[in-house]
Amino acid sequence: MFFKKKTKHAESLDPNNIPQHIGIIMDGNGRWAKRKGLPRSAGHRAGAETLKKIVKYCDKIGVKCITAYAFSTENWNRPQKEVDALMDLLYMYLQQVEEQFAGTNVILRVIGDRSRLSEKINKAIDYAEDYTKGNSGLILNVALNYGGRDEITRAAQLVAKDVAAGRLSADAVSEDTLSKYMYTESLPEVDLIIRPSGEYRLSNFLLWQAAYAEFWFNNINWPDFSEKHMEQAVLDYQKRNRRFGKV
Ligand code: FPP
Repeated sequence: MFFKKKTKHAESLDPNNIPQHIGIIMDGNGRWAKRKGLPRSAGHRAGAETLKKIVKYCDKIGVKCITAYAFSTENWNRPQKEVDALMDLLYMYLQQVEEQFAGTNVILRVIGDRSRLSEKINKAIDYAEDYTKGNSGLILNVALNYGGRDEITRAAQLVAKDVAAGRLSADAVSEDTLSKYMYTESLPEVDLIIRPSGEYRLSNFLLWQAAYAEFWFNNINWPDFSEKHMEQAVLDYQKRNRRFGKV
């Protein structure tokens, strides 16, 4: 395989070993804003622009899917003002999907527990997903009111319901079965998880899917994360020896 066209910051990459699914914890927005004397919401706005840039780059180099952690089940505990600002920002991006994704072939999807999101946001999600569903490029999976433990708990409940209803035999429940009850059911395996800003935790992100993912960290706050950093992450990924428990 060759890159579609000459892509900047991709010259060093092996086009035959591109991670299919990358998870990104977009961390450091608050610190970025503080350093500039700006409100935290300005950091989140800048972070959203970074995500767009990185999604376009990843689409060009052949990544099939990005799951971006936009709002966790724990983020409700932030000051109300910040929660509101984040929700407004997400709403704006979803509602302006035509402009925000103009000229891209990106498919937008949202994962997480939507029951706690406002009706306004739920409608905007439906609209954005519907608007982009015919595209054929990278899938941008936005994790919104998402928690890894919540996802696994939900999967267990769904399995229990199917067993109780006689649709599934308890003995037949395997790892593959459970995978099908996760939000990421139809997506490729997560190959790489990236967390910038000098933090080294999963913070309840993609717990089930991270089993065999490679991890990549750096000290850059997410708004300053560039194509060059993504190239380095993929380059480092390509040097890893993935054994999946074998020798
Ligand atoms: C973590 O940084 C970031 C978040 C909790 C929110 C991330 C959300 C976005 C970048 C918006 C996404 C937009 C779209 C369109 C999907 P932090 O606030 O914890 O930073 P800090 O650790 O420096 O305080």
